[in-house]
Amino acid sequence: MRRPIIAGNWKMFKTRPETSAFFTALIPLVRDVQHCDIVVAPPFTALSTAVDQTEGTRVAISAQNVHWEDQGAFTGEVSVRMLSDAGCTYVIVGHSERRQYFGETDDWVEKKTRAVVKGGLKAIVCVGETLSERDAGQALDVVRRQVRSGLGRLTGPDLSHIIVAYEPVWAIGTGRTATPEIAAEMHAEIRKTFAEIYKAAAADALRILYGGSVKPDNISTLMKKEDIDGALVGGASLDPASFAAIIKYI
Ligand code: PGA
Repeated sequence: MRRPIIAGNWKMFKTRPETSAFFTALIPLVRDVQHCDIVVAPPFTALSTAVDQTEGTRVAISAQNVHWEDQGAFTGEVSVRMLSDAGCTYVIVGHSERRQYFGETDDWVEKKTRAVVKGGLKAIVCVGETLSERDAGQALDVVRRQVRSGLGRLTGPDLSHIIVAYEPVWAIGTGRTATPEIAAEMHAEIRKTFAEIYKAAAADALRILYGGSVKPDNISTLMKKEDIDGALVGGASLDPASFAAIIKYI
């Protein structure tokens, strides 16, 4: 049995006071939740506020990006060691917005993922095709390539620190969710690709999240699909009531 994860990606939203207000509202709403892991990824500036406010709760804190070097002359970057020091336990790697707007390549995703697991944190590695790739019939090929190049050089013990998020770019922030059938097909393909690189047991244990316009009213249908092990939620994770409703999808 794979333990579900519901993760919120705040992107470039919320100051420290807004972060405090969010957790003050969220924590009582999810206090009794046992059925899934809960993760929130605030911007760097709000990480320590989020870590302080979730101490002693079951909410884990994630960063949204990282650099693969430990330290050095890389202006504007933050390392795994720094994120770990700030109290983060997860890092989102290779989000499509990083690939699209900041030139992040499969090669960088691979380096970042290895640095995250080496540093003892968990990596939520994002893959997903654009609309033109889907329309051209390339969706499966694109995602297979992203899985192979982003995750293909890990070793056995690292695998339990990897979570994959399938996020079709055409479904992010557009209100257009992939149908549960499309999501299930892509998730099954990701698991199959993982089994081709590593062992079947590692692929069976891999948690694959769906992301792209997940809302309180579509989460339970998505979660019924066998290969969907959770969600990476953008817009709907900014509001405590809607994020709590998604967490309580059962
Ligand atoms: P969305 O974003 O839920 O707002 O579509 C998802 C994501 O980018 O992780």
